[in-house]
Amino acid sequence: MGMDYSRIEDWILRENSFDPEKLGKCEAVMSLGNGYLGLRSATEERYLNETRGLFVAGTFNKFDENEVTELPNAADMTAIHLSVNGERFSLTEGIAEDYTRELNIRTGELRRSVTWTSPKGVKIRLAFYRIVSLKRLHVIAQRVEIVPVEEDVRVEIKSGINGKMANTGSQHFSDGDKRFYDKRVIQFVQTTGQSKIDFVDTTVHKLALDGEILPMEAEVYIERREIFAGYSVDIKAGRTLSVEKYSSVYTSRDLDMEGKTAAQIQELAVETSRELESLGYEVLKDESAKQWEEEVWNLAPIRIEGNVLDNFAIHFAQYHLRLMVPAHDARMNIGAKGLSGEGYRGHTFWDTEIFLLPYYIFTAPKTARKLEEYRYLSLPGAHAKAAHNHYQGAMFPWESAWLDDGEVTPEYMDVDILTGKPNKVWSGFIEQHITSDVAFGVWQYSVITGDEDYMEKYGYELIMDTAIFWASRLEPGEDGRYHINDVVGPDEYREHVNDNAFTNYMACWNMKKAMEYYHLLKDEKPEIFTRLNEKLSLDAAYGGWKEGCEKLYLPAPTKENILPQDDRYLSCRDIDLSKYKAQENVGGITRDYNLEQINRIQVSKQADVLVLFFLLEDIFPQEVKKASWKHYEARTLHDSSLSLSTHSVLACDMGEKAMAYDLFRRAASIDLGPFMGSSNAGIHAASFGGVWECVVYGFGGVRMLGGRLRINPSLPEGWTELSYTIIWKGQKLAVDVTKDAVNVENLTGTKKVEIEINGEKHVL
Ligand code: BGC
Repeated sequence: MGMDYSRIEDWILRENSFDPEKLGKCEAVMSLGNGYLGLRSATEERYLNETRGLFVAGTFNKFDENEVTELPNAADMTAIHLSVNGERFSLTEGIAEDYTRELNIRTGELRRSVTWTSPKGVKIRLAFYRIVSLKRLHVIAQRVEIVPVEEDVRVEIKSGINGKMANTGSQHFSDGDKRFYDKRVIQFVQTTGQSKIDFVDTTVHKLALDGEILPMEAEVYIERREIFAGYSVDIKAGRTLSVEKYSSVYTSRDLDMEGKTAAQIQELAVETSRELESLGYEVLKDESAKQWEEEVWNLAPIRIEGNVLDNFAIHFAQYHLRLMVPAHDARMNIGAKGLSGEGYRGHTFWDTEIFLLPYYIFTAPKTARKLEEYRYLSLPGAHAKAAHNHYQGAMFPWESAWLDDGEVTPEYMDVDILTGKPNKVWSGFIEQHITSDVAFGVWQYSVITGDEDYMEKYGYELIMDTAIFWASRLEPGEDGRYHINDVVGPDEYREHVNDNAFTNYMACWNMKKAMEYYHLLKDEKPEIFTRLNEKLSLDAAYGGWKEGCEKLYLPAPTKENILPQDDRYLSCRDIDLSKYKAQENVGGITRDYNLEQINRIQVSKQADVLVLFFLLEDIFPQEVKKASWKHYEARTLHDSSLSLSTHSVLACDMGEKAMAYDLFRRAASIDLGPFMGSSNAGIHAASFGGVWECVVYGFGGVRMLGGRLRINPSLPEGWTELSYTIIWKGQKLAVDVTKDAVNVENLTGTKKVEIEINGEKHVL
């Protein structure tokens, strides 16, 4: 599908003025990365309120016994201190004119420019450029240009590696080996305290005056946890000094470094620096931009005609969806903040399966497979959690980090406004739906991609093992039925509830799927059946699944057609929620009521029953969905960024187009919108998956229903055309929707594809 990508407004996120009090949001939303490295876009010069951050996927470390494992904030290599005639460059002093900072999401380049007059009146023009290479996973490249406007100046530069970074105070690294090679290449080796991962950080500078290389030796500064080079250059007015800085990070956890000693990695990193230096910033930037083109924009093109902002929003989502995903290594997964901040400690949640996976399944199935292999590789942690709680099978951790860590949810967070004590986080103990979410992800992946190899190696086992957990989790009640008591469902404003509809229906689905696969394997793949039967005692488990499904209590809709979220929700009191519905920042209600009180109000933090309708779409009648949507939407504060997109997709399904569009706009504004504080600790990963779901599942009408592909598009007011591609069982389909036509073309064309479009069956 030929897309016209030429409009610049589809690609540039711009900041036109600098506010030193509000740095966090831009640092996060303009962050750079490649799934291995994630770099917050803190400026080269440092400010009091900044939060610098560089994260390497999967390098978890536990600071001490009282803290959970987290992704450590690695040494900073992007700071470059500049002084002009002895005056330090800082935008909090002097006068700044023509300031802009732009992230080009198409090429992945960050640019900033300003004309700065120092407090003593020296005027210089500055431009800063930066990329994290998508082509070379270990590489960060920067370029700074300095032009004195009116008079000759002396510029002093101090730049190197700062290993004093911490995660809000927790220092994860020992002070390690520091080296200067040839008075040019700077290297610093640090090792994480508990997980003992070596980080080899290396950087080198190249200076040029009007393009002519300056053969300079650096002044060397080696101090505790830092190593710097200093340069001093005289520049005549109107001439351009450029400083290029090429940095790399390798760790002993990297798959491509396996078997290498720290000394060998150090040597390799020095060679890399020399290679980067000889290539130069422009070449590195261009090859990375080409990679973006090939890997993202040409592979999964989407275009919305009729609204430039929405078109940008979907590209922005795709940009971050690439930054956050460790497509290079199945031993790690996506963090709730991607790699853009310390929030949620780099941990993986149900966000992956329910909100993010669909994007990768439909556009980059190989990457989706990696995310699903991670769940298989982390089975030891799931078994340990089940055993710890006296259950059987695989009980997945609510928050996951390294493969065998098991549960890593912190135990306390925030404050109870009534008691003044920290709130206990119950999710790690009783938010158990994650286990069937994982199974659901496996099923979705396998049906949409048709990847039987994955199923045979990992998928069938995951579905059986999770079903074994559920059968052991059921509690017999006095009514002769099974119940699942004392849980937190997706809506985290309700703790210790019984028979949460989402949890029960999904547990039942999980056990039913295991039974279905039991028969399929027995009949069609006896070797795999025998292997798994030996490993998991499937014959013995089957009876438990059957009885579990038959007897599990599944909440039924009320006579008003409302599906009860749990056994108490509908009998709780209603309060006037308008104040919280209109709030600018999320969580307002927790500042007026404590969680115990919230538990007794009909109020939801996020979609719960509605996620169930979204996942198990074909088992609930339309009238139940409609009545429930109305009931819960009025009581949902969307205090989780995961919520709006689900409500939008369902509003679309129910023909509530204006409402669907409004919810989509709000979902797209979570990180792009005006509320400055909301993204400080990192972008909201799942909400980007949600934005894609709004566009492709909601307005684009795509759904996998019981193994079949369905497309029922319906464009919102103002959109004249929507084009996207999806990969269905290895066949890439280009879908083009206008107000009165739907065109689907099979671009791969090697297999027949059956689709239902607006209720009619078609074969491509
Ligand atoms: C939400 C969870 C989500 C987590 C990470 C919480 O605020 O309630 O559903 O998994 O954030 O994004």
